[in-house]
Amino acid sequence: MARRRAADGTTDLLPDRIPVFDHVFGTCRQVFARFGYREIRTPLFEDTSLYVRSIGEATDVVGKEMFTVNRGETSVTFRPEGTAGVVRAYLQANLDKIRPFQKLFYMGPMFRYERPQAGRQRQFDQIGVEALGSSSPLLDAEVIALAMQCLTAIGLANFTLAVNTLGEPGDRARFRDALRTYLQPFLLERCDDCRVRFDKNPLRMLDCKVKGCQPSNKSAPTMVDSLAESSRQRFSQTLGHLRALGVSYEIDANIVRGLDYYTHTVFEIRCTDVGARSAVCGGGRYDGLMRELDGPDLGAVGFAIGVAPVLVALEKQKHASTAPKDSDVAIFVVPVTDAERAACFLLTHELRAAGLSADTDYEERSLKALFKQADKRGVRFVLTLGPDEVAQQQVKVKDMAAGQESVVARADACAVLARRLAT
Ligand code: HAM
Repeated sequence: MARRRAADGTTDLLPDRIPVFDHVFGTCRQVFARFGYREIRTPLFEDTSLYVRSIGEATDVVGKEMFTVNRGETSVTFRPEGTAGVVRAYLQANLDKIRPFQKLFYMGPMFRYERPQAGRQRQFDQIGVEALGSSSPLLDAEVIALAMQCLTAIGLANFTLAVNTLGEPGDRARFRDALRTYLQPFLLERCDDCRVRFDKNPLRMLDCKVKGCQPSNKSAPTMVDSLAESSRQRFSQTLGHLRALGVSYEIDANIVRGLDYYTHTVFEIRCTDVGARSAVCGGGRYDGLMRELDGPDLGAVGFAIGVAPVLVALEKQKHASTAPKDSDVAIFVVPVTDAERAACFLLTHELRAAGLSADTDYEERSLKALFKQADKRGVRFVLTLGPDEVAQQQVKVKDMAAGQESVVARADACAVLARRLAT
């Protein structure tokens, strides 16, 4: 009979894979601290209406990808992203009144009912930041530079930054009109989704992944042509700050982002080693969202890194952090015969109580098999107890790297091992 498998789009993290996750999360934490970001944790699910209102009814995320649970009068949705929950928490805690400018970060699982593929899952981790309470273009540049630094510090290679601007709502209305006028004659050759997007949000037709839809996008008008002078200036200021920070970028007029809350700067960081969906990070400014959620008119900007796509790329690039770590405990305590098994158990416990990492055998294996196991686990010392050692209240200590053996008094074993491990 076939064994049970995890639900589609979910994965187990077996112990060998944990170190690379720790590396990615730990590195980002360090970089965030350097930039003055503090951690926030919000619930894994929120009222469904929060996402409908913030991400937008016409988006794929809200229309097709939400994991929603309806119980009686309530409808909650497992968070498909972190921004809406963070803004909700910020407003609920009145931070807009107490200390409006906040730099926050979060890491944890998100849920989207997507087609599983390389780097795309239905439960996936994001590492994100939200800088709330300021509209300064300096912050747009800083947030982008922060995302780039995180990926560099993680050790990722072959990634590039693409930026665009979506302007203000008025700019977008002009752009939507221009797009509809241009795209109308091509409607018959576009996919079904695009025909729906034409009415709801024609901007999304620009990043349609269907091959047959792409030729008609080639000569489409670009957002830049519809920008008001103030938006144009804002964009060029942001780009100027990026250049000043030494961040290389390309402008990609087709970045429209899959979530409706964006204004002005939007960006994606792509890595060629991920696969068809190459974005390892996406973000931008969302100045209208707080207002939309019944808060004040304050600006905000942020991003989220997708951990799964980053890991796909790190593995492809054979980054050192992806190699399985061989060592788990430092000391392995093994009996020569069955008679010393209980004594080994006790010594192991004492070593642990003394703050050292130690393990013993629970499978009644032979001495030869246990030394093989010690080698495989990469332990530094093997302690052996045989009938002679027990009789003379001693312990045999083997330094596995040096291949040297010595004998120490049983009573001194913990102190001696602690000293040797400290060097
Ligand atoms: P997003 O572009 O939807 O933006 O997601 C950000 C990143 O999360 C993507 O670039 C991708 O790397 C990763 N990601 C998205 N969906 C999946 C999936 N199904 N499996 C694995 N990884 C995935 C947001 O979520 C915004 N909240 C980002 C943001 C924060 N904007 C402003 N502040």
